[in-house]
Amino acid sequence: MTTLVTGARGKVGRALVARLHSAGHAVRAASSHPARLTVPAGVETRELVLDRPGTFAAALDGVRQVFLYPEPAGIHELIDTAGAAGVEHVVLLSSSSVLAPGAEDDALAGHSLKVERALAASPLTCTFLRPDAFASNSFGWAYPIGRGLPVQLAFPDAHIAPIHPEDIADIAFEALTGDSLTGRRLTLTGSESLTFRRQLAILGDAIGRGIPVERISRAEAERQMGAHMPAPMVASLLDLWEAADHGPAAVADTTETLLGRPARSYAQWARENAAAFTGASS
Ligand SMILES: NC(=O)c1ccc[n+]([C@@H]2O[C@H](COP(=O)([O-])OP(=O)(O)OC[C@H]3O[C@@H](n4cnc5c(N)ncnc54)[C@H](OP(=O)(O)O)[C@@H]3O)[C@@H](O)[C@H]2O)c1
Repeated sequence: MTTLVTGARGKVGRALVARLHSAGHAVRAASSHPARLTVPAGVETRELVLDRPGTFAAALDGVRQVFLYPEPAGIHELIDTAGAAGVEHVVLLSSSSVLAPGAEDDALAGHSLKVERALAASPLTCTFLRPDAFASNSFGWAYPIGRGLPVQLAFPDAHIAPIHPEDIADIAFEALTGDSLTGRRLTLTGSESLTFRRQLAILGDAIGRGIPVERISRAEAERQMGAHMPAPMVASLLDLWEAADHGPAAVADTTETLLGRPARSYAQWARENAAAFTGASS
C-alpha cells in the first residue's frame, strides 16, 4: 500500500518520508522540484505541484494514502484524481488557525480551511492535523542572530506554544500506519506556552550568548515582512501575534495522549538547530 507524501522537501514531509521508509512502508515522495529532494535510497520520487492538476494523475497512480500539504487551488481536481486512483485516506497538514473566529476571512487560516472543507465534503476518509506554530519558524531569526543583530519584533511578548515538526511527523506516521487516529481532527501544540522573548532567551542558551530583542512598530514590521510575503498574510500574522500578546497560549496534550510521551520541548529544538543561528550555516 503506497503512501504519497506531498511537501517532501518540507520539515514535516521530509521527516515523515524517512519514518515510513525505515518502518518498511512503501512511500512515494512528491515535490514541485523532485530533483531537489533528498530521500532515503529506495524511496521513489514524483513531481507534484498542488496547484497544477496536470501533475496529479502520475503522482497518485497506485497510491492508497496521501499526506497532504494544504493548497486550495486545485484541491477539487486533486480529490477527483485521488478518488479515481483508488486513494482511501488523506491526512492533511492543516492548522490550528482554522478554529479561530473569523478564520474564513483570514488569509492564512482561510487557506487551510478551504482545503479542510473540500476534503470533508468528499467521499475520501480524512484525518486533519491542526498544528499550532512550528518551532522551526524560528529559522526566520537566523539572519540577525547570526550577525549579532537584535531580533526586531512588533509583539515580542506574544505567546505561542511552538510545536517541534518531528512531533507532527510522529503523529502523521501514527495516522497513516494505524487506525486509532483515522477520521479525527487533532489540534497539536508544543508542551508549553512561550513568548517570543522567552523563545529567544532559550535560543540564546542553546548558542551560548544572549540575543537582544528590539520592539518595533506594527507599521515597521509590516514593511519588513512585506518584502517576503503577500500583504494579506502579513496582516494575518500580525493580527495573530497582537491577539496573543495578552496571556498564555492554549497547550493541547495531544502528543502525550496520542503517542504516550511528552511533546519535544522548544529547548530541544533550539539545541538541535543551534548551528543555524551561529553564522556557521547562514
Ligand atoms: N509554519 C507554521 O507555523 C505552520 C503552522 C500550522 C500549519 N502549517 C502548515 O504547514 C505547512 C508547511 O509549513 P512550513 O511553512 O514550515 O513549510 P515547510 O514544511 O518548510 O515547506 C513547505 C513546502 O514548501 C515548498 N518549498 C518551497 N521552497 C522550498 C525550499 N527551498 N526548501 C524546502 N521546501 C520548499 C516545499 O514543497 P515542494 O517541494 O512541493 O515545492 C515544501 O514542502 C504549510 O502549508 C502550513 O499551512 C504551518
